[in-house]
Amino acid sequence: MSKPLRKVVFPVAGLGTRFLPATKVVAKEMLPVLDKPLIQYAVDEAVDAGADTLVFVTNRYKHAIADYFDKAYELEAKLQEKGKDELLALVQGTLPRNVRAIFVTQPEALGLGHAVLCAKPVVGDEPFGVILPDDLIWNQGKGALGQMAELAQGQGAGGVIAVEEVPQTDTDKYGIVDATPIDPRSAQIRHMVEKPKPSEAPSNLAVVGRYVLPGRIFELLEKTTPGAGGEIQLTDAIDALLKEQGKVLAYRFEGTRFDCGNKAGLVRATMHMALQDPKLAPVVRELLAGL
Ligand code: UTP
Repeated sequence: MSKPLRKVVFPVAGLGTRFLPATKVVAKEMLPVLDKPLIQYAVDEAVDAGADTLVFVTNRYKHAIADYFDKAYELEAKLQEKGKDELLALVQGTLPRNVRAIFVTQPEALGLGHAVLCAKPVVGDEPFGVILPDDLIWNQGKGALGQMAELAQGQGAGGVIAVEEVPQTDTDKYGIVDATPIDPRSAQIRHMVEKPKPSEAPSNLAVVGRYVLPGRIFELLEKTTPGAGGEIQLTDAIDALLKEQGKVLAYRFEGTRFDCGNKAGLVRATMHMALQDPKLAPVVRELLAGL
């Protein structure tokens, strides 16, 4: 992959059933970790990776995401009038000025692969990133997607997929890769399989919510038939890409991942972020000591 990464797709059209009843009206991606919604952490990571075009694949119930990145005239005028400059900067800074947000709709939740395919008319035939905002990845240095974009360019890889070791008993919750190590962080993928039983999994290296993919993946997605769970799986299209292009890398990113698609992960992320905050850290420590 020689071109820099300009476009990042955020598939956010899932139903978020694990957070019902809240997600009856609040998009899962708008759930906050402290004062920032999950989608903001994801957007910050995409911008850090160099993206200037963000494509949100939403559904008809998720207007809040578009509203969040839009201008809030009344609120901004009030904050300005009251001289609350710091808050004003926060409200205006959800999206940098040079970055544009484009919204496309996934008419039916037919799976992650189908959601990514909905971004085809915007992305076209160039490499792009995918971030699943419910996988929050925290790193002091460069963000996970930025690390992957660098690797893709440096290695001329057809694609880069973020992976993490998971307990062998959990392989049936993830896409799992079979890969040959190149160095401590990267490996050449031989094969991928969606949600294998622990006894059938080729490894415990699980695909997590970051991808750098070539535009070619869209044509492969168009040919992908529903797989595990009756959904159009991104993993199946990547497996087809592998057969064509060979060089698709698995990458163990630098950083800590919190699976905020479930309650335990959201609690962990919240505690972690609170412990990074000088004002909140003593509160959390005191609370834990009391327990
Ligand atoms: P999940 O597997 O977490 O599903 O999707 P979900 O619907 O969001 O949540 P639960 O399992 O019902 O609680 C992984 C990612 O893929 C997106 C989701 O929005 C999430 O970012 N997705 C999934 C889509 O955009 N469309 C789909 O059809 C399915």
